[in-house]
Amino acid sequence: MAFSLFSAKACNPLAARCRDDSSTKLRLRYAPYYHEMESQQGTTVRLQGREMIMLASNDYLGLSFHPKVIEASRAATLKWGTSPTGARVSNGSRAYHVELEEKLAAFLGKEACHVHAAGYLSCLSGVAAFAQKGDVILADKNIHSCLWDGIRLSTATVERFSHNSPDDLRAVASSLPANTPKMMVIEGVYSMEGHIAHLPALLSIANEYECFNVLDDAHGFGVLGRQGRGTCDHFGVTEKVDIICGSMSKSLASTGGFVAGDRALIEYLRTHGKHTLFSAALSPSQAAAAMAALDVLQTEPEHIERLWKNQNRYLAMLRALGLDTWASETPAVPVVLGDKLRCYNFWQALRDKGVFTVISIAPAVPPGKDLIRTAISAGHTDEQLDRIGEAFAYAVNRC
Ligand SMILES: Cc1ncc(COP(=O)(O)O)c(C=O)c1O
Repeated sequence: MAFSLFSAKACNPLAARCRDDSSTKLRLRYAPYYHEMESQQGTTVRLQGREMIMLASNDYLGLSFHPKVIEASRAATLKWGTSPTGARVSNGSRAYHVELEEKLAAFLGKEACHVHAAGYLSCLSGVAAFAQKGDVILADKNIHSCLWDGIRLSTATVERFSHNSPDDLRAVASSLPANTPKMMVIEGVYSMEGHIAHLPALLSIANEYECFNVLDDAHGFGVLGRQGRGTCDHFGVTEKVDIICGSMSKSLASTGGFVAGDRALIEYLRTHGKHTLFSAALSPSQAAAAMAALDVLQTEPEHIERLWKNQNRYLAMLRALGLDTWASETPAVPVVLGDKLRCYNFWQALRDKGVFTVISIAPAVPPGKDLIRTAISAGHTDEQLDRIGEAFAYAVNRC
């Protein structure tokens, strides 16, 4: 009996497709992903028994080891247990969710907010809940995978426009029937490129063509705007943005995500968004860490100041070495090397010198833009920046 069950499973075409996929084996054996760090202390990690500088984390403000954040997370677990074990709509709603949502909404300058257990879920829901079949979604070509998934799940039609191009947005929008309901989907800061959205121009066109708009500010939150209020605040256009979604796994040193907007929109999301209705709520430790980090953002300006000081020094260092940073303007800094082999060798050379980065190659980036993705943090010390500079100089000479 056991044997026949096993053979039935082995013959299953879906299982066989996964088992026999040659690229899976190749990826796991050779691709530089899924590294298991043995320990971490701030921007220092231990990998295969060796200390390395972490230059690929999205802990932009370096708050994941901040004493207040750690203590809040610990205290919340003691008070509330480890998990709400259910969806908000049924048994999973807690006072700490509402407190975090009210604080985030106030910080972002929106009426209401809803938090999810993953940023991916928030950004996906922030699109999928508000668009439907018959609508047209105008999407920047370079948006994150979670937004593409939200678009797909909405079943709306999608039209792409060139990355961060108000002219192309206008060209696409003007080609659509005036009475078709439309949505524009963009990011505030593009995660791979580090570009800041040309927000005022994009919003003005969206407004002209009556596009509802959704902005994913996962990488702008905590980095841009007053006290880190994000890209909308940076440009002073918060009231013109319908939905701001994002992640708490970056500047907020936690995990989870948020969707913020007018109260009526958030109430609609809560009652109609399947991904909001049928997924378990944010855990106490996640919420408490985010809430404490939000408080630190508003009371300790030195972290953002340090982040930008480090970013300026780091970018200047890379440019002096003649490296192509894809015109990044933010702490998310790609180093474009243009082909896979050079990326791999460069990544390895940095690793030899004790600096951990991440490779991103096509199709994750456009062809010819194969790159090393790095992110600078307020947590990097001057001494670490010196070592990072030496490592890059070594990699440039070798590759
Ligand atoms: C632009 C953007 N949106 C959303 C997400 C999803 O956030 P999380 O990883 O917290 O689920 C990410 C994460 O990489 C991101 O870069």
